[in-house]
Amino acid sequence: TIDQKVEALLAKMTLEEKAGQMTQISVEAFLKTTNGVLNEPHEFDMAKLELAIKKYKVGSILNVGGNAQTVEVWRKRIETIQQLALQERLKIPVLYGVDAIRGNNYTLNSVMFPQQIAQAASFNPAMAKKAAAVTAYETRASFIPWNFSPVLDLGRQPVWPRIWETYGEDPYLVAEMGKAVVQGYQGDDVVTDKYHVAACLKHYMGYSMPLSGHDRTPAWIPERELREYFLPQFAAAVKAGAKSVMVNSAEINGVPVHANKHILTDILKGELGFKGLVVSDWQDIQYLYQRHRVAKDNKEAVMIAINAGIDMSMVPTDFTFTEALIALAKEGKIPMTRIDDAVRRILRVKYETGLFENPVGAAKDYPLFNSAAHNQLNYDLTAECITLLKNTNNILPLAQGKKILVTGPSANSMRSLNGGWSRIWQGTTSDETEKEKNTILEAVQHVFGAGNVEYSAGADFDKVLDVRDAVAKAANVDVIVLCIGETSYTETPGNIGDLRISDAQIELAKALAGTGKPIVYVLTEGRPRIISAIEPLSAAVIHAYLAGNEGGNVIADVLAGKVNPSGKLPYTYPRSTNSLVNYYHKYTETLQFDETAGYNPQWEFGFGLSYTQFGYTNLKLSSATLKDGAPITVTVDVTNTGKVAGKETVLMYVSDEVASITPEVKRLRGFEKIELQPGQMKTVTFKIDKDRLSFINGQLQRVTEAGDFTMSVGGLKAGFKY
Ligand code: IFM
Repeated sequence: TIDQKVEALLAKMTLEEKAGQMTQISVEAFLKTTNGVLNEPHEFDMAKLELAIKKYKVGSILNVGGNAQTVEVWRKRIETIQQLALQERLKIPVLYGVDAIRGNNYTLNSVMFPQQIAQAASFNPAMAKKAAAVTAYETRASFIPWNFSPVLDLGRQPVWPRIWETYGEDPYLVAEMGKAVVQGYQGDDVVTDKYHVAACLKHYMGYSMPLSGHDRTPAWIPERELREYFLPQFAAAVKAGAKSVMVNSAEINGVPVHANKHILTDILKGELGFKGLVVSDWQDIQYLYQRHRVAKDNKEAVMIAINAGIDMSMVPTDFTFTEALIALAKEGKIPMTRIDDAVRRILRVKYETGLFENPVGAAKDYPLFNSAAHNQLNYDLTAECITLLKNTNNILPLAQGKKILVTGPSANSMRSLNGGWSRIWQGTTSDETEKEKNTILEAVQHVFGAGNVEYSAGADFDKVLDVRDAVAKAANVDVIVLCIGETSYTETPGNIGDLRISDAQIELAKALAGTGKPIVYVLTEGRPRIISAIEPLSAAVIHAYLAGNEGGNVIADVLAGKVNPSGKLPYTYPRSTNSLVNYYHKYTETLQFDETAGYNPQWEFGFGLSYTQFGYTNLKLSSATLKDGAPITVTVDVTNTGKVAGKETVLMYVSDEVASITPEVKRLRGFEKIELQPGQMKTVTFKIDKDRLSFINGQLQRVTEAGDFTMSVGGLKAGFKY
């Protein structure tokens, strides 16, 4: 068995070899540069690579190093690294990892799916699983077996710059998406085949709720809240077999998570029974002394982090991590049992990803890289993500022959459609690398005919250009498609001081509204930028999130009615900066005297329109009392009452009327997406058992308290007791 192989290998290893396995360096450490700039195409400085592998026995490498490379360059890179590793005494292959967070985005021409927040809007975990399987295939085509994805942080703080990397604000939705995507990445077996990769759940846990909203700043989350809202999705994905976990870079309640033994060892490895490997985030062990100041030097930082339960250090910039680890073990300050536990976990992932048998792949095995089938899946998934938020007098879809002005800073930019982690580490697609895909403008020209489409840039994200051109062109058209939102960003560069959309874009919208022509807003943005100042000026609003490479094509097809939108908001879209209240708020949020201060979002979680209508009837419960071991079956009839086919996500909420911890007004306890032809009816069934209604009580126990509950589906309600 794999465990026997791991034990046999571990028994042969020296302390130095073990410390090397626990070290992960970045490819930049051995890429050749000329005058400080990376050579293109990348070349390895073999002396530096040999130092890492032969002297320090490094067990893992990550990252792209500069721009995305072709699949052929990647294969050559991995072959070179593995050849060197296999010349070593124990022939242990290197575990290479990348952030292929929605497609193998470090390899040129790979399929780039919508970002996670957009995928969440599809409410379609089965489709997200298929996309994850394609991502795994295309990543493995580059001979890379480890993917730092999915993000299972809760997207509840809209100011936080990485909210678009999450599946939104609801823990149940995050868990359902997370489980599906882990299965898509890893396949259904413990040992992944050559088409699958090891998933990495990140960033465990509580990363997404910094008090200030700024990345990697302190969060204050009591353990009850951690267990109620932040832990369940990690627990679900661990249960689904996830092979690795990456740690939250920030601090919670005054303790950096990289130093938190309770969270890493007691909860993750103990309570959840996680058997995979725990990797730090970027340089986060050294940051324990350089930033967090809970250690006085590197050595103390290494001691704290490894004893807390971290198995692998991502990116020590030199080998002081490895050396400190060896010294600490010799001094007895890190027990050998802890080091053996870490190495066991790392070796297990190497065996489980098939690296010992196939440290590299065979190019001929990947004919479907960037194939028509993969691109079609991208289009189909994107079509399920786009969310229609407003459609006054059914202005959409637009008939063929309409004259359209396409304008705004994201109208002609692949960068705005893709967002961060696109072709560059953390970075953005440059419009040059994506020439083969359509921007919104190009796609609208294609769908409606170039002769019917005018274009004017109108504004930069933060700078008003001369609006006279856009205003003048508006005179010749029937409708204006105004593409606004954000430029791309990832971590700290994405911090903002104001959630409102930029003044430049507000000015552009106001100038265009002065023409009297109807305006359709297309929001390409990674977080819900507040648009209350200009929302009344719009006739329709399409939320495209960061829709990925097919975004332009799908948006044009939504405008034309070829795609009937079916996305629903995976987060609350706020109306005002000081009222960032999410949907599962407590009752006191709605009892304010001034309604602008309470829960009064622009659009609610779960909101999304269609070009058809859906009617809900016949909500029935199999019993008015829920008993242990006897779930209630809930049925509801959903009918397409409109004129075109459409997809509807049926959302089932439950409210706990009275509880020992103040209950939320409602919680999502089930959802299902269905497709209906005009006039067609389907009965949707949910099961509710006691666990679905449980919560963490004041003693940190998961309980279901007896009492009254109300279920609501599509505006219908029914009460029951437990
Ligand atoms: O995986 C990422 C993480 O999300 C943020 N810091 C860097 C890691 C590796 O690139």
